[in-house]
Amino acid sequence: MAPHTIGSTRSGRHFLQIPGPTNVPDRVLRALARPTIDHRGPEFAKLAREIADDLGPVFSTKGPVIVFPSSGTGAWEAALANTLRPGDKVLMFETGQFASLWKSMAERFGLAVDFVPGDWRRGVDPAVVASKLADDRGRAIRAVAVVHNETSTGVTSRIPLVRKAIDDAGHDALFLVDTISSLGSIDYRHDEWGVDVTVACSQKGLMLPPGLGFNAVSEKARAAGKKGGMPRYYWDWEEMLKHNANGFFPYTPSTNLLYGLHEALAMIREEGLPSVFARHARHAEATRRAVRAWGLEILCAVPEEYSNVLTTVMMPGGRGADAFRKVVLERFDMSLGTGLGKVADKVFRIGHLGDFNDLTLAGTLAGVEMGLAAAGVRHAPGGTLRAMEYLAEGRSTGSIHGR
Ligand SMILES: Cc1ncc(COP(=O)(O)O)c(C=O)c1O
Repeated sequence: MAPHTIGSTRSGRHFLQIPGPTNVPDRVLRALARPTIDHRGPEFAKLAREIADDLGPVFSTKGPVIVFPSSGTGAWEAALANTLRPGDKVLMFETGQFASLWKSMAERFGLAVDFVPGDWRRGVDPAVVASKLADDRGRAIRAVAVVHNETSTGVTSRIPLVRKAIDDAGHDALFLVDTISSLGSIDYRHDEWGVDVTVACSQKGLMLPPGLGFNAVSEKARAAGKKGGMPRYYWDWEEMLKHNANGFFPYTPSTNLLYGLHEALAMIREEGLPSVFARHARHAEATRRAVRAWGLEILCAVPEEYSNVLTTVMMPGGRGADAFRKVVLERFDMSLGTGLGKVADKVFRIGHLGDFNDLTLAGTLAGVEMGLAAAGVRHAPGGTLRAMEYLAEGRSTGSIHGR
């Protein structure tokens, strides 16, 4: 017999409370397990068409949404390769680790990036967008690229305000937005907000395993691609759309992930997007109440930019987050998000997105609170109780971004 250990990691489900990949619902797991079919046959074409019908509403677009067998990074690459040429000027913002990685990719492709520095505690400042574009009298800036929800910091940039800044400057730059950790969790409207390319992927709000990347594309973005862009084959939108018109793909698609996507989209449709957004807002508010009651600080410094999908917590004393996360994993079988890049070991991240309800949150916060005690982290007890009181009230408050 195995020796008895304190805390059981041998039974019950693992708590995957990183901000993606998220917990995959049983319904989706069952769909993924169906036998793979001929991706050039009629059954597949029907599946692909039904997915196309359900995907548009999640992006809030009537235009095409391209599905790549890829991670989110691939979908970033597709967005740049289809719209921009080496030497083109791009405006980007240092909101955190993912914005920094997207910028590195852009530089690797020979784009001239104007990277507005940031402190990783706030989102894109619309006033800076406005002044950068107003100063660009020669219209050299070809694209403004923004991460909607910075998964490394728990800060959500206000896309409608960025759009307004672009419009107020009368600038014709393309607007590229990374919604990798916001799509299907935080209100987002590709058409209404005049976004040209929305980048997304499967493993966060869509409740799927990793492996699908998405580009929702405007007419303007497609026109830019038809005129130029970079050499591309795998990522080419037009080749993909030509085949998609008949329900097919130019190469072998991720058939089983598409089964899962079909099921996940049905779940989102059944719950209704407004309810999905309100649920995430409520869980985020409950989490923040817990964190404040523990006497800990939230990394996001601007309340209007609090993320509804994750909360990033600063470690008292400024370090030790990884040792704390290790205790939580070993004692309570729960994964919390690690601090990335500049905030490595300084913060931990609580993911509260995807297939997630009041009791998942109560369990998650209880795991954090027990972990704080077990790891000897300075805090005031009772945060979980504050969150539970808020959840028991059943109120739907918290901000729903974009409203
Ligand atoms: C906001 C954001 N952008 C881009 C990425 C990169 O996506 P992937 O790791 O699937 O390539 C991530 C991954 O977590 C992300 O959170």
